[in-house]
Amino acid sequence: MTGLVVAMDGPSGSGKSSVSRGVARALGVRYLDTGAMYRAMTWWMLQQGVDLADPAAIAARCAEPRIESGTDPDGSAIHVDGVDVAGPIRQADVTGAVSAVSAVPEVRARLVALQREIIGGGDIVVEGRDIGTVVWPSATLKVYLTASAEARARRRSAEVTGSTVEAQQAAMATRDKLDSTRKADPLSVADGAIELDTTELTLEEVIAEVLRLVAKRR
Ligand code: C5P
Repeated sequence: MTGLVVAMDGPSGSGKSSVSRGVARALGVRYLDTGAMYRAMTWWMLQQGVDLADPAAIAARCAEPRIESGTDPDGSAIHVDGVDVAGPIRQADVTGAVSAVSAVPEVRARLVALQREIIGGGDIVVEGRDIGTVVWPSATLKVYLTASAEARARRRSAEVTGSTVEAQQAAMATRDKLDSTRKADPLSVADGAIELDTTELTLEEVIAEVLRLVAKRR
């Protein structure tokens, strides 16, 4: 029997990070951003000049980097071989390449094992694409966050300078399509997950709803 595990899955821009952080803070538990781990792996591959059009090349190298992820509620700490990559992993080059790297089964096997180790005894909110389906199917609560494509693009373009809502919407549609149609652990709604459409809700309202759902399951 492990402690509390909240699995927070959904497409990009659905509000997973802000909601997960808020819920972790309110509950006084840890927070893990698994997307940051896939981004860190992608950053390292780009640094090494690995050909990202070649899944076999990605698979051959993916055991090399040491990826360490912070689990405090602000959870943005992420290091590769001791280098702080919190900034670089949010850059456009990594965002544009991450779906190709995360589609490689060897990459997923390695990072899923690492994520399970970090989750360990629980008391954690974990955000990603496959937490409820693959990483921790026995989670106390599984939430699948959605929002309209337009709302998701609007939120993301408010975070990224120099980008229009239309450009964001197109880039996100491409990434979501790759993430939900890949063979290995595609983005999908887990059995038993509660779907929450956040289009018309404020961040505070979504956090309150998740906390209410957690309270019902404890
Ligand atoms: O959540 P974020 O947008 O930072 O995730 C970046 C990418 O990492 C996603 O587009 C997806 O390709 C991959 N990812 C994944 N499985 C997870 C978390 C993220 O494949 N659990």
